[in-house]
Amino acid sequence: MNVTLTVNGKQYTLTIEPRVTLLDALREYLGQVGTKKGCDHGQCGACTVLIDGQRVYSCLALAVMQEGKNIITIEGLASGDNLHLVQEAFIHNDGFQCGYCTPGQICAVVALLEEVKQGCASAVTTDLHNPPKLAELSETEIKERLSGNLCRCSAYNGIVAAVQQVIGQQPPSPLAKVIFSIETVKEVL
Ligand code: FES
Ligand code: FES
Repeated sequence: MNVTLTVNGKQYTLTIEPRVTLLDALREYLGQVGTKKGCDHGQCGACTVLIDGQRVYSCLALAVMQEGKNIITIEGLASGDNLHLVQEAFIHNDGFQCGYCTPGQICAVVALLEEVKQGCASAVTTDLHNPPKLAELSETEIKERLSGNLCRCSAYNGIVAAVQQVIGQQPPSPLAKVIFSIETVKEVL
């Protein structure tokens, strides 16, 4: 089938089988390998992209169904040499180690910010009539709202801190994180 995809503001016309996923179309046909293939089964979030502003696992989306939609991948977030705020926050807060999950994590955070602005509740929102505003988003809310993106390196503390920085909260200092880790290990022992 012929399909025209709009990816990061550019249009690409591909001839592909209808079974090709958006993830494979991006990586194998367009050479945009920033979007990662982790599980290929909708379980890890490494393949997260934005479609019309919403986060989507691209391994579970057929490419031929995305015609006319605005697809943004990790390659499309920066503006020239200027990184997106969320990208800068990940660097500043050590929100990654190997980096394999990071493109998906960052796309998920970009969508999360918009979802909260629009008043979306999460599974841990206590008052569904009064969902939290960005500035008051708790650590529990951030973790729940990013629970669809796994990190094998377990860089979760840095990822949460990156979100906190972007929404204007004060992330815990690296020293506080070390002390917290030591205390946690002591408790376990
Ligand atoms: S590769 Fe898509 S969810 Fe894991
Ligand atoms: S930084 Fe390595 S998997 Fe997340």
